[in-house]
Amino acid sequence: MRTNYNGEITKANVNQNVTLFGWVNRIRKLGGLIFIDLRDTSGIVQVVVRPEKDFFSFVESITNESVIEVEGKVILRESPNLKIPTGEIEVDATNVKLLSKSDPLPIDKNSNDEIRLKYRYLDLRREEFQHIFKTKSKVLSIVREYLNNNRFVECETPVLCKSTPEGARDYLVPSRIFKGEFYALPQSPQILKQLLMVAGMDRYYQIAKCFRDEDLRADRQPEFTQIDIETSFLTQDELLSLLEGMYRKIFKEILNVDLPNPFPKMKYDDAIRDYGSDKPDTRFELKLNHLENLFSNVDSPLFNNKFITGIKVKDENQYYTRKKIDELTEYIKKHGGQNLLFIKKTNNEYSGSIIKLLNEEILNNLSLDNNEIYFLTSHDTYLKSSEAMGSLRLKVARDLDLIDKNLYDFKWIIEFPLFELADDGSISSTHHPFTRPLKEHEKFLKTDPLKVYSYAYDMVAFGYELGGGSLRIYDNEIQKQIFEILNISSDQQKSKFGYLLDAMNYGFPPHGGAAFGLERLMMVLTNTENIRDVILFPKTTTAQDLMLDCPSEVDDSQLSELGIMVRK
Ligand code: AMO
Repeated sequence: MRTNYNGEITKANVNQNVTLFGWVNRIRKLGGLIFIDLRDTSGIVQVVVRPEKDFFSFVESITNESVIEVEGKVILRESPNLKIPTGEIEVDATNVKLLSKSDPLPIDKNSNDEIRLKYRYLDLRREEFQHIFKTKSKVLSIVREYLNNNRFVECETPVLCKSTPEGARDYLVPSRIFKGEFYALPQSPQILKQLLMVAGMDRYYQIAKCFRDEDLRADRQPEFTQIDIETSFLTQDELLSLLEGMYRKIFKEILNVDLPNPFPKMKYDDAIRDYGSDKPDTRFELKLNHLENLFSNVDSPLFNNKFITGIKVKDENQYYTRKKIDELTEYIKKHGGQNLLFIKKTNNEYSGSIIKLLNEEILNNLSLDNNEIYFLTSHDTYLKSSEAMGSLRLKVARDLDLIDKNLYDFKWIIEFPLFELADDGSISSTHHPFTRPLKEHEKFLKTDPLKVYSYAYDMVAFGYELGGGSLRIYDNEIQKQIFEILNISSDQQKSKFGYLLDAMNYGFPPHGGAAFGLERLMMVLTNTENIRDVILFPKTTTAQDLMLDCPSEVDDSQLSELGIMVRK
């Protein structure tokens, strides 16, 4: 029987007999003795095997990463290693048993991602992963404690569902009994949690698995977890203060960091105007300037009828050479920009791509100091011009190391537009179709829907959207009106959302909620840039699981039972 965890043995245990289990982290022979670093979930302890022991030569043959059992006595080390918690003691082995031999591992620190994902269970042995997943477990218990103490009820909604519109493609599951019909895995439990408010649950939460078949990025996986919340009878301010309290508790308990109280609120329009993003990284300044008035008399297709956005950058070390500026031009074009223009002042001389177009008055108005560069971009729309410069702002901040990594810039972005206009002219919901329009904007629903703003909010920090939600519509007529604006016919309304519209006839309380991405939270807490590192068994960017080797083909018999013929 195990008497101790390896990483927890200290001077207090000296002279005790112990029985330990674990993996051979490293085995080496030194001065006629064998030293084993024995690892378990708590850490490492050093085991020493003396040559007079009859198991000495057998121990010599044990390979790294094998699982062994050690009996021995805790003694003080002759030369302590104060760098590790168990460094003052070692275990003098009286018996060593091999429980499971390890072949040489197929991966090491330098292996590529593909092979590491294939042997994920071995990669997970690394200390940084152990730390991440133990922290994740703590975070979940803090979340549960906070919500339980605030009268929330933990619920489970089904995974075999009907499609919910969150903007991505659904993962579908064929029905065996109703051939040709499908369940959809939930993109989020959105409608079900709203129905729980009709059911009188008052405050709901769920640690909910969500599935979205969308293009993957460094902060997106096809399968992820939401801390999903819904409440009745709260105002937006009451709800946001309840939600941010949970984040304050998590950051205090995990990192001993005090998040702002209350979180600042920034309107969506202001975020776009100042940062060109609805998830602005405010750990550095570098705000955008909108300069179309200044350039209104410059006669050039670059400026005429364009929205011109710029940032003024201090470049004391002359980082931005011609070559670097060319790279920025490529960058902004990749991020929706049409061009990058610049004016630079060095030794009281102006230079730059548009210098010939500008008169002295304009140059003076730009009020550049020496070693300052004005980066500008022009675009037909205000939003695209702002967003393109917003992404350049982030790139410049990274290039010039402007980000204050110790700043926890938590905030709410509020008052999002209810709808957005796609390039093809179609209208879609900015969040989802159940978001409640601002009371004073309801009148524009009929005349000019794009003018309608909503009770929607996102929690944003470090330039990530950590979560988002809204107050919801609880009035049948407004909900139908929104569906109509979204071009969802009344037949489709009935077939897709009939149950929600019905429920609105039976006493639907005013309600609102939010969902927070657990993985994004973990990325921020553990300072990780890739979402894969905070998921035990993640998928690749092509949504494959290299360890399980899926998606994979299935037997013909399974397909025929489901009434499915595959068209390749
Ligand atoms: P939304 O779609 O904004 O809202 O999602 C909420 C949060 O979930 C996280 N998230 C993801 N994390 C990893 N991979 C993904 N593919 C992914 N997609 C989303 C983000 C995001 O902020 N039902 C609404 C919430 C509500 O209104 O209550 C919803 O799902 O952190």
